[in-house]
Amino acid sequence: MRVVCTTPWNATPAARQRADQLSRWFTCPRVPRRNRSIDTLLQEERAEGVIVAESSPVLYHATCVDKPLFFHPGMAKTRLAALRRGNGDRLLRLAEVRPGDVVLDGTLGLGTDSLVFAHAVGAHGRVLAVESSWWLARLFQYAQTHTSGQPAWLCELLSRIEVHVAPHLHLLRQLPDRSVDVVYFDPMFRSPVRTATTQVEPIRPWADVSALTPEVVREAQRVTRRCVIVKERPTSGEFQRLGLQPDKPRGTFAYGVWRKESGDGALG
Ligand SMILES: C[S@@+](CC[C@H](N)C(=O)[O-])C[C@H]1O[C@@H](n2cnc3c(N)ncnc32)[C@H](O)[C@@H]1O
Repeated sequence: MRVVCTTPWNATPAARQRADQLSRWFTCPRVPRRNRSIDTLLQEERAEGVIVAESSPVLYHATCVDKPLFFHPGMAKTRLAALRRGNGDRLLRLAEVRPGDVVLDGTLGLGTDSLVFAHAVGAHGRVLAVESSWWLARLFQYAQTHTSGQPAWLCELLSRIEVHVAPHLHLLRQLPDRSVDVVYFDPMFRSPVRTATTQVEPIRPWADVSALTPEVVREAQRVTRRCVIVKERPTSGEFQRLGLQPDKPRGTFAYGVWRKESGDGALG
């Protein structure tokens, strides 16, 4: 995918410097803004995506220019606030995450689940997060390394996440048997979530949309000490295909859980 990097409308010297830095960070060509709209810029530069050097990177994809993508911990913040109120978290409950655990998040994306895991494993735990999309992995790593102005709680959680830029199968194959407590996957849903306001999720054009394979699930079952969890739509057919039992029969999404002790749903 051809992606270029540029300044915001107001190309101040600081914005120019940020654009230069981002072009190196994402290893993509730096182009002048010249007062061009994002649409015009994409056309004239024959690019599918453009990264704008706002105070932090903002990614526009040609297929959804009106839905830019940027790192934001919003959903993690909401879930952590619910935890503080004592409401619990469905994913943490299913995964039985405890302080000191090692969690492998096989699909980092914007890092919401990884941040929630990072909170639950605490200062002595670890989150290994894998992302095969270069753009998404670098976006998250940018947030991890440019923390000025971020609240202390977020910096602390970001620092507990170890990002691997690779397909999850590569990392799983390198890990010994029973070397992590939980393996979690939240692959892109087979069909995009559409609402009246979103034509397509902003992450989708930047993401690896490949489906989980039985080999990946088998490797995850080998590597985990406790469980493998997959998030999917209950009616997608993915749970049946992968031999996993969803925790809910209906709803926007369900978690398919395989536990080491029982071996429920193990693939042959
Ligand atoms: C739905 S998003 C994950 C969202 C994430 N759970 C969060 O809380 O922000 C799925 C992510 O998995 C990544 N992905 C898909 N296949 C992958 C693979 N084989 N290895 C690593 N990452 C993969 C996609 O690029 C995408 O970023």
